[in-house]
Amino acid sequence: MIKKILITGCAGFIGSNLTDKLLKLEYQVVGMDNFNDYYDPKIKENNLKNALTNKNFKLYREDILNFEKLKKIFIKEKFEKIVHLAARAGVRPSISDPQLYYKVNIEGTVNLLKLSVDFKVDKFVFGSSSSVYGNSNKLPFLEDDLCDKIISPYGASKRSAEFFVESFWHSFGLKSQVLRFFTVYGPRGRPDMAPALFTKAILKGETIKQFGDGSSSRDYTYIDDITGGIVKAINKNLNFEILNLGNNKPVALKDFILTMEKITGKRAKIEKLPAQMGDVVITHADITKTGRILGWKPVTKFEDGLQKYIAWINSFSAQ
Ligand SMILES: NC(=O)c1ccc[n+]([C@@H]2O[C@H](COP(=O)([O-])OP(=O)(O)OC[C@H]3O[C@@H](n4cnc5c(N)ncnc54)[C@H](O)[C@@H]3O)[C@@H](O)[C@H]2O)c1
Repeated sequence: MIKKILITGCAGFIGSNLTDKLLKLEYQVVGMDNFNDYYDPKIKENNLKNALTNKNFKLYREDILNFEKLKKIFIKEKFEKIVHLAARAGVRPSISDPQLYYKVNIEGTVNLLKLSVDFKVDKFVFGSSSSVYGNSNKLPFLEDDLCDKIISPYGASKRSAEFFVESFWHSFGLKSQVLRFFTVYGPRGRPDMAPALFTKAILKGETIKQFGDGSSSRDYTYIDDITGGIVKAINKNLNFEILNLGNNKPVALKDFILTMEKITGKRAKIEKLPAQMGDVVITHADITKTGRILGWKPVTKFEDGLQKYIAWINSFSAQ
């Protein structure tokens, strides 16, 4: 039987890729998104163009902060599972508007947790972030780490939401997986993130703003590996687990730029600027636990993923 699943944040980068993947697997997908203008909402509309032609997809243009409206949707739809991805997702903007991050990322999550319990949802998958590890110098990052080095309101909002998810398992038996994503890149990549900014700049011959000396590193993880991990979490019968979804191979900023130059055959123009507040030095996922519990491991090498991403950008701008 087709399972009915709610994906919040379905119009975003990860949400829309996941929606397409689940529709291919013949899930019945209900998407929810408020299409806010954190980045151009037309991009989000475009992300859902394919899904909207599929009879197994239904869209609610709703805000996860509107509890009464959400309740009506839960009554009507009777979800079996939820993947909660809707959030304010940028690190740097969380420093200028921490209250917004607090509201959407914590209160919005608690709204969905409460309704999941009230309407007996089978499983809750939460999209968390490597930002919860903050500036920890204990590498690679392990799910059991204390996470007491958080340096951005975004990271704090995600860690707080994780605590709520865990508490709903203990208090109400809501089966849930917290998935900590590490810098995701690929087609439909968020336009505010480094992979999009850098790639577009190099393709257009514009200057790349490099914050810091180029040694800061990210465990860039390709979108298909991330959505593959989410699908595994959806399908596995588990109680409460925190799991890293990362590539386990950090790439330094300067090597990122060199790889881009190699793929595009263009030389990057770089403007060096001081490191930014809220940015951590390195992210590096230990993925032993995820491998053991979900049978997941990333399969996309960074250079291959970047090549696919650049090909997607080129095809897009050729349209
Ligand atoms: N992209 C990454 O590298 C990354 C890394 C770690 C964690 N995450 C997490 O993964 C999730 C998805 O991230 P993304 O990169 O796809 O971001 P995104 O901004 O592209 O997608 C988030 C979506 O949520 C929607 N949304 C935001 N507030 C909402 C609200 N109040 N009500 C309804 N919808 C709302 C937005 O309109 C957007 O379409 C987020 O929870 C983010 O924190 C992303």
